[in-house]
Amino acid sequence: MSRLVVVSNRVSVPKAQSAGGAQGGLAVALLAALRESRGIWFGWSGEETEAFEGKIDFQRHDGVTTATIDLEPQDVEEYYNGYANRTLWPLFHFRIDLTEFERDFGKGYERVNDRFAQNLIPLVEPEDLIWVHDYHLMPLGERLRSLGAKNRIGFFLHIPWPPTSLFVSLPYHARLVRTMLSYDVIGFQTVQSLDSFLYYCEKELGAEVDGRTIHFEGRSVRADAFPIGVDFEEFTAFEGSGDARQAEQRILSSSRGRKVIIGVDRLDYSKGLPERFDAIGRFFDLHPERTAKTLFIQIAPPSRQDVGSYQEIRAELESMAGRINGARSEVDLVPIRYVNQGYPRRELFGFYRAAHVGLVTPLRDGMNLVAKEYVAAQDGEDPGVLVLSQFAGAADQLDGALSVNPHSHESMTEAIREALDMPLDERVGRWQGMIDNLRQEDVSWWRDRFIAALKG
Ligand code: G6P
Repeated sequence: MSRLVVVSNRVSVPKAQSAGGAQGGLAVALLAALRESRGIWFGWSGEETEAFEGKIDFQRHDGVTTATIDLEPQDVEEYYNGYANRTLWPLFHFRIDLTEFERDFGKGYERVNDRFAQNLIPLVEPEDLIWVHDYHLMPLGERLRSLGAKNRIGFFLHIPWPPTSLFVSLPYHARLVRTMLSYDVIGFQTVQSLDSFLYYCEKELGAEVDGRTIHFEGRSVRADAFPIGVDFEEFTAFEGSGDARQAEQRILSSSRGRKVIIGVDRLDYSKGLPERFDAIGRFFDLHPERTAKTLFIQIAPPSRQDVGSYQEIRAELESMAGRINGARSEVDLVPIRYVNQGYPRRELFGFYRAAHVGLVTPLRDGMNLVAKEYVAAQDGEDPGVLVLSQFAGAADQLDGALSVNPHSHESMTEAIREALDMPLDERVGRWQGMIDNLRQEDVSWWRDRFIAALKG
């Protein structure tokens, strides 16, 4: 078996897994593949150093080697906070209004991709399969090739690929995509993203696109959709855990018979949280008799706090939650619980299980694994209802969800009402239609399909 080298901006350290299961399904699946192939996971340590002097920190846990480097403050500012999270992230989530175009960000991005390549290349052996992840590292394959890598190299984009009409607003867009055509395989979450990418290559670069193969300057690149799944076995096994049961109990006892609607999202403007809060407020206005019978819990751990748009969305939500609650609370009743902290996944399992409705309404999302984990956590005999944005990648697979347009408050309030009132037989039917997909198209299926394509 060829050795696997995974490269991503953030590296998940295996020891955290035994410490409390705080890792996402993606980390678990990649760690399993790395363990089987005695592979390496390379990336940023998350730490800063005043002057980078080529130090790589190697750690070995449970058959997996992680190799991480620190970044200089200017790199973090221009590459991570800058090009990755002020330019690419908003643009790729269709938020051109929030996209910042700064030449220094682009330079920092290229510099850090160079640094990744230079530090990774001595660790790579000729037969290794290299799998690069996400928007932070799009040019990495080309940087590795320029340093002599002849390996099979694949890239997977976890976020959406935007339509060409938006993407061309990125200065040097062609330069970025040309670098991507150094990969052997390029994976997207959805066929929609794949089609946008193929269209761009054909129309803007003049590449020859033959089905899902791109021919460009003597190279052939395979592009495809590989929708990521949850680690079904690992996640559903939380059912028996004391932590999950306690978490479920915490919600059930504190909600005192009210029906619970839950949202769990990183605090990010792509998640549609103001629209969701607004819809909840309107729902209570439309159905005042339900205010005392319904509880909305929004868990939203803050993220990317050095970026202005994230500070703004945080402040906006705090004031919205205050306003909605202020107008509707009683001394013993608060309709919205807004929680700015994260929880281990086994506790989330319990929270999902206790909730009658999972409200997952991003304005744009590559996939959204919360939607899948909400469904996976339900009791098949009495499942809750998933309300899912039509703009989440997960909507392609989760056709038993109530589909909503998060921009329309009517669509949202109607779906919330329908979900809360849905009879048991319909809930069971919808859940059954989704659970088989989640079990089959799980994270191992995703990983194995990508690696098979990468082997060629
Ligand atoms: C998204 C991205 C990931 C990223 C994660 C958390 O899921 O696709 O690449 O790691 O958000 O964001 P952060 O900036 O904290 O790494």
